[in-house]
Amino acid sequence: MRGIVLAGGTGSRLWPVTLGTSKQLLPVYDKPMIHYPIATLMLAGIREILIITTKQDQESFQKLLGTGIAFGVSFTYATQDNPDGIAQAFLIGESFISNEPCALILGDNIFYGVGLGNQLQRINQADGAHIFAYEVTDPERYGVIEFDNSGKAISIEEKPVNAKSNYAIPGLYFYDKDIVEIAKSVKPSKRGELEISSVNELYLNAGKLNVIPLERGTVWLDAGTFDSLIDASIFMQVVEKRHRFKVSCLEEIAWRGGWITDQELIARADSYMSSPFAKYLMDLIKS
Ligand code: TTP
Repeated sequence: MRGIVLAGGTGSRLWPVTLGTSKQLLPVYDKPMIHYPIATLMLAGIREILIITTKQDQESFQKLLGTGIAFGVSFTYATQDNPDGIAQAFLIGESFISNEPCALILGDNIFYGVGLGNQLQRINQADGAHIFAYEVTDPERYGVIEFDNSGKAISIEEKPVNAKSNYAIPGLYFYDKDIVEIAKSVKPSKRGELEISSVNELYLNAGKLNVIPLERGTVWLDAGTFDSLIDASIFMQVVEKRHRFKVSCLEEIAWRGGWITDQELIARADSYMSSPFAKYLMDLIKS
């Protein structure tokens, strides 16, 4: 299985902070934002990951994440010249995808919930598209999905002024091997972007869109504004202080998955020196 993290964009809602760095490199409590979407893909069992960034930020991401060997995965890097829309990820990633099914997650989307990894691993990517629905109070900020009385999805609208439902579509999508051809057939929207909602609409019209409601207990955050960034940090701080475990620790996911050995985990812990991550990783081994 392959996955893409789309971590370009302008981050204009975070200016001036993001004038000099990528939004996805900013910290969400104790780790860089991009660790969270990478963790989500890893929990879904995905180990071949394409990271799409702006050209100017690519080097920083490579410095941060490396080849992926420390996390038992493989990272490939690509750039997006302009933020021309989320669906462009599949055009940029065409050769990486190489006619296989592919997942996509947005670099500022954070998921946390019991059983989420198992839920994602159960998705049958061979067939159609699998997206999620999450009830929110401000659906007009997102792609919105409408259901009929039987619970069947009937329409998708991108950032509607008057939303037909409260169900937003989170930035995590799983597609079958047709995704590149489908993304190629999408025309830019009125705002000039290749919309992921247009991709999802094509799957919907073909009767191939599966919509999975996210459980009430699952937390979905996007950290693209000053308030949501600090909310996400506080959320992670509360969770991590209350119980012993870190959320979305990439080395831990790799080690529990058997993708890195005890020795590799210890070496990584050593490299963290005085960071609390060093002790956290060592404690995993001892427990
Ligand atoms: P947005 O939050 O819609 O856009 P942005 O990150 O540029 O921020 P702002 O609205 O403040 O200017 O993007 C959501 C995520 O998708 C974010 O992680 C960036 C990523 N993205 C791209 O990498 N390329 C794109 O073309 C688009 C539209 C988004």
